[in-house]
Amino acid sequence: MKKFFSYIWPTTRRFPSKINGTLEVTYVNGKKVLDTENANYSYGSLQKILEFGLTKVDLKSVENLLLLGMGGGSVIYSLRNTFEYTKNIVAVEIDPEVIKLAKEEFGITTSKKLQIIEGDAFQFVKNSTEKFQLIIIDLFIDITVPPVFYEKDFCKNITNVLQNEGSFIFNVGINLEKNSKTLETLTSHFGKGFDLQILQKVNGTNTLIIGQKLMQ
Ligand SMILES: C[S@@+](CC[C@H](N)C(=O)[O-])C[C@H]1O[C@@H](n2cnc3c(N)ncnc32)[C@H](O)[C@@H]1O
Repeated sequence: MKKFFSYIWPTTRRFPSKINGTLEVTYVNGKKVLDTENANYSYGSLQKILEFGLTKVDLKSVENLLLLGMGGGSVIYSLRNTFEYTKNIVAVEIDPEVIKLAKEEFGITTSKKLQIIEGDAFQFVKNSTEKFQLIIIDLFIDITVPPVFYEKDFCKNITNVLQNEGSFIFNVGINLEKNSKTLETLTSHFGKGFDLQILQKVNGTNTLIIGQKLMQ
């Protein structure tokens, strides 16, 4: 019934979060989405942006995938249902309220091929000894990427956990100018060991960096 009425007017439920402010689950046009006050987090425009990124990488050679910033898990849904990716996923998410909503509202739960880790993505990549063939970096608090994820240490740690010839998809934020200092500095952190593509105005708003680690 809720789904039916959502075609006439969207219905929103709000959940307080110490980390993300107010989280909103809205039924709109028969579909449930997860938003914050100013941003779509999952199952809306954000999902389309990451899906576009996924068309740029070779998923066939991926056995172990790391998702930093699980949100409501829309890219997990896309990987499983649109891209037919059946192998392992490790998802890291800092907000326990988001993890709870992912489970209760969107059916994203731990399974044999999906490990959900409640924790800080920066610490995870700093301490991980596992290697991944694909890393999706989608870390936001509302509309902002926490600045630590633009820094050299984070990029160095990503390089360490990425297998040779593996790739990353980095959603670096909205409305970043083409030659902005942030973008320039960020790409320089990955250095010569990467083949980098910068995709601008994906879905009209976001910049994605697609990087492939060259054979060392
Ligand atoms: C845009 S949402 C991710 C959406 C998700 N990729 C999807 O496909 O539905 C961004 C997420 O990053 C998480 N986040 C922000 N800072 C983080 C951190 N330091 N460590 C882990 N997760 C973080 C937020 O809590 C939020 O859930």
